[in-house]
Amino acid sequence: MHKAIEIKNFTYGYPDGTAALSDISLSVEHGRKVALIGPNGAGKSTLLLVMAGFARGTGKVLVDGLEINNKNLKKIRTRLGCCLENPDDQLFMPTLFDDVAFGPLNMGLSPEQVKARVAEALATVGLAQMADKAPHHLSAGQKRAAAVATILAMSPRIITLDEPDGSLDPRNRNNLMMLLRSLSQTLIIATCNMNFAASIAERAVLLDKGRIIADGEAKEIMSDVELMTEHGLEAIAKK
Ligand SMILES: Nc1ncnc2c1ncn2[C@@H]1O[C@H](COP(=O)(O)OP(=O)(O)OP(=O)(O)O)[C@@H](O)[C@H]1O
Ligand SMILES: [Mg+2]
Repeated sequence: MHKAIEIKNFTYGYPDGTAALSDISLSVEHGRKVALIGPNGAGKSTLLLVMAGFARGTGKVLVDGLEINNKNLKKIRTRLGCCLENPDDQLFMPTLFDDVAFGPLNMGLSPEQVKARVAEALATVGLAQMADKAPHHLSAGQKRAAAVATILAMSPRIITLDEPDGSLDPRNRNNLMMLLRSLSQTLIIATCNMNFAASIAERAVLLDKGRIIADGEAKEIMSDVELMTEHGLEAIAKK
């Protein structure tokens, strides 16, 4: 069976010379929920962009068994949906309905199927009443939920989310947590919020300065006060 994500000895630097990721090796099996944790600037967002084929470096990256290259990119985009760090980068259509319909339409679904997918995705994130609203008129938390809906509507096997808890009030953060826990897809969630991460993910990958520092059982890593403090994070309470 293909792994959901298979990365081997991957190194990436931005054009301005910033060494963002160094010798990353990471393998994620299908159906797993993984938290990508690390301080600001650690490389979390960059690694998620790499998985989605937006940043190419040296080394090997396979998504659902497919090597990232121009030939495979379209197929990969139907299998891996990435919720970007800034929802404004994800919402660009005149209405929320159009934004959530964009992916399913590109997948060649019929108008009825698209309508059903949009309705379901918007209801799931609590925005069922907002379909006709202009995305740029949504509140920050609503935009965050809308961006998640654009991914859910495509129902990809693998979902990456970059700080999905940002801007959410406690009730909506809790709703998102319950939603993510209920999904059967492979989830890779970048966040600096350890309690949020620990409530969803069984595995944590700690990144700092572009390198993987630790990779293992989420609660064990996140409750290691020394490790968390050394890398600028807050440890969760030990059970
Ligand atoms: N477009 C870019 N051009 C140049 N350097 C960049 C660019 N985007 C990010 N970087 C740099 O790459 C490194 C990793 O950034 P990245 O955004 O992946 O970190 P992060 O872990 O997501 O941080 P945060 O928690 O703040 O979101 C940082 O040093 C950052 O300054
Ligand atoms: Mg980031």
